[in-house]
Amino acid sequence: MAFCLRSPLSLFFVLLFLQTLGGKAATCNDCFVQSRAAYYPNSEVQGTDVGACGFGSFGATINGGDVSAASDLYRNGVGCGACYQVRCTNGAYCSDKGVTVVITDSGSSDRTDFILSQRAFGRMAQTTDAAASLLSLGIVDIQYRRVSCNYPNKNITIKIDENSNYPYYLAFVLWYQQGKKDITAVQLCETQNFVCKLLDRSYGAVWTTTSPPSGPLQIRMLFSDDDGDENWVVPVNNIPADWKVGQTYDSGVQVNL
Ligand SMILES: *[C@@H]1O[C@H](CO)[C@@H](O)[C@H](O)[C@H]1NC(C)=O
Repeated sequence: MAFCLRSPLSLFFVLLFLQTLGGKAATCNDCFVQSRAAYYPNSEVQGTDVGACGFGSFGATINGGDVSAASDLYRNGVGCGACYQVRCTNGAYCSDKGVTVVITDSGSSDRTDFILSQRAFGRMAQTTDAAASLLSLGIVDIQYRRVSCNYPNKNITIKIDENSNYPYYLAFVLWYQQGKKDITAVQLCETQNFVCKLLDRSYGAVWTTTSPPSGPLQIRMLFSDDDGDENWVVPVNNIPADWKVGQTYDSGVQVNL
């Protein structure tokens, strides 16, 4: 030790100080935020096929249908694909664990942060009976926090969007992104000379470019978090030269960032 402590009391203050520092660092990435949640009034208990993220039917059924629309957390599409643990706070009905949902849509209702699928909303309850009671409330107080998405046995998958027009216009979304970071930029690179260009986020999770280069294409994804930590991830597999509208391509990589 480079300094010497004169009294047990100063040791106490040093420890208290260190503990405060440690406590601060451990908060608030992980702590719960208070809010409210509603649910989609649709007859299917899952999410919506036409969510603002542009995920299509994937956005309704991914994660077993435990999906949600977000208002502020939608973040102009950057929040698409992010996962949150959401638990309601009514001790009579709600479980401690709540439910983990994936953001696939944008929307708000009477000061809510989440509009859950009906299935996810019910899964915050302790029992089936409690779920029925929760659903009858319509909007409930909740706590939420960002958590890692987890897709066992899935690589990040490139889905060529239905609005693409081979070979003039390429639009795609990325499915099954694990971890707690956001994809904040995507580059499209020629595989001959590795000339790359940044793609536009046209809306939600949809990345687009007019006149994509011909030949196999490599994408590069930038993963970012709130602390300014950034990583470029390069898939193992390319998009084939003859990419097809509506087709999915396995990137061959997964992340746990
Ligand atoms: C993920 O990609 C790796 C190659 O990088 C491949 O070996 C593996 O089979 C892929 N996993 C799935 C579930 O497709």
